[in-house]
Amino acid sequence: MKVRINGKNYTGQAGQTILAVAEENGLAIPTLCFHPDLAVRASCRICVVEVKNQDHLVTACSTLVYEGMDIKTDSPRVQKAREINLELLFAEHLEKCGDCTQKFSCELLDLARHYQVNVNRFLDRKGKRATYRFANAVEIDGTQCIDCQNCVEACTKQGINYLQVSGHGANQEIKPVKDSKVACIYCGQCTTVCPVAAAQEQSTWPAVEKALRDKNKIVVAQFAPAVRVALGEEFGLPSGTNCEGQIYTALQKLGFNYVFDINFGADITTMSEAEELLVRLNDKKAVLPMMTSCCPAWVAYAEVYQPDLLANLTTARSPHIHSAGAIKSYWASENKMAAKNIVVVSIVPCTAKKYEATRPELKYNGRNLVDHVLTTRELAFLIKKNKLNFVKLAKGQSSPLFNSGSGAAAIYGASGGVMESALRTAADLAASDQPQRAPGQPINSSPQKFLEYQAVRGLAGFKEATVTVGGRRLKVGVVNGIANFKRLLPKLGKYHYIEVMACPGGCLGGGGQPQPTTEAIRAKRLAGLYSIDKQRSVRRAHDNSAMLTYYHWVKKNKLSSKLLYTKFS
Ligand code: SF4
Ligand code: SF4
Ligand code: SF4
Ligand code: FES
Repeated sequence: MKVRINGKNYTGQAGQTILAVAEENGLAIPTLCFHPDLAVRASCRICVVEVKNQDHLVTACSTLVYEGMDIKTDSPRVQKAREINLELLFAEHLEKCGDCTQKFSCELLDLARHYQVNVNRFLDRKGKRATYRFANAVEIDGTQCIDCQNCVEACTKQGINYLQVSGHGANQEIKPVKDSKVACIYCGQCTTVCPVAAAQEQSTWPAVEKALRDKNKIVVAQFAPAVRVALGEEFGLPSGTNCEGQIYTALQKLGFNYVFDINFGADITTMSEAEELLVRLNDKKAVLPMMTSCCPAWVAYAEVYQPDLLANLTTARSPHIHSAGAIKSYWASENKMAAKNIVVVSIVPCTAKKYEATRPELKYNGRNLVDHVLTTRELAFLIKKNKLNFVKLAKGQSSPLFNSGSGAAAIYGASGGVMESALRTAADLAASDQPQRAPGQPINSSPQKFLEYQAVRGLAGFKEATVTVGGRRLKVGVVNGIANFKRLLPKLGKYHYIEVMACPGGCLGGGGQPQPTTEAIRAKRLAGLYSIDKQRSVRRAHDNSAMLTYYHWVKKNKLSSKLLYTKFS
């Protein structure tokens, strides 16, 4: 059908909104509450446009096009309405821009500047509203909320239903439900869809800046697999671009004394998890299926909703806890440093890891292994705050002793990646042609064996495969997004090994990743991770010789229970 926008002819399809036709043709209409993966509620009214022969302005995100529709997206009437709507939104949203991690990429602030809106014209109607904090991971600040309800829908889509709309009209508020059987699992999905940073991670960048100023501390950064394929989005690079080289350099320029890759820790997780899988498979009394435990939101879910399954969780620690353990033990000892002077900062796509880092089971010699956790968004904020030209930075590399991990570690950032990494190693360790090997010693089989398990890849909500490990046929399953866990539950007994990642897409779609995160963007980040895997010369964790040196050191010094494994309660 023919549609006219701002005096020019375009083609639209039946069922398309004005916004969709405009975007398809490169015409910008501002939006706030609209998110392509969520229901259209048209609550912010920033996208209003004028349609010929219609008395009222319409919202572009919710109004369908029709034959001959004549639309103006930026007429004086539209501009005036947007100004008023912006002022009304600022009456709901207390400006706390100084400390806000979104301030360099805030659509609301950009619109206020563009329309030269006096953000103080209305009283801050919600100035005394409560802030709800979920552990040390996520918060919903009622003084900033514009009532779009995106966070409520995101939590419902996760199957958790922890958030509710309470009250009506001027008294409307987003708050946790009052039901002792329902708990937040800290996945942060609510924070990825909030247009005004009212739902966001609990920021730790001020504590990190303080540590960086402390000359008595050795401040060590480590970044996770999924950060490298998403951070570039904050600087205009296409989703899925591998920015690991620039990340090393950016972190050094921010003042970190050493920078490591959590992929190294992912290889430790794979090694310990694959060994545990083989032990369980060979023990008739062992609990099966073994289930992954590197997603702390899934662990939180299991602890609240499925405590009967805690014995199924692998005792292998999660990647950033593993690499922090390697830094504060082996690396500190090799460099003659006192662990108490080392501050480890994890940069992850995840809000739940803020909570995980403080779990008492994960302490080493009475101290947390990871001292601070920053999300991908917080790192982007620090880079922008320090005015680094991220895209132009030279490519750096890992500080000495550790390395950037195997290809198997890179795919930890994707749903199915932990499973595939563990299978690559477990299948090779169990292969009948393997020579007897001492713990922690390199394997001699062809590095091209047991490389790809395509069936567990992709963005489907549940994936399964039958694989061969040590001559035995194993049924494996992958839960992509915690809402899909319930689909698996009735048939759990059929499986030997299960991966569960709480966020849709796995960590690449994590609660700390840049906005927007959509299904299309997840697919691009996913492709970026598998491309890194393909390009690595070492693609299996147990071929990573630096990791094996550390692994062997842990076993020789009888530190396995303190550094490799954990327990759940
Ligand atoms: S962090 Fe996850 S579980 Fe908690 S409120 Fe947000 S979406 Fe819901
Ligand atoms: S917290 Fe954010 S996402 Fe939730 S209703 Fe308020 S503005 Fe919308
Ligand atoms: S899927 Fe990844 S980002 Fe999401 S909660 Fe789990 S570990 Fe964190
Ligand atoms: S973006 Fe259309 S009403 Fe909010």
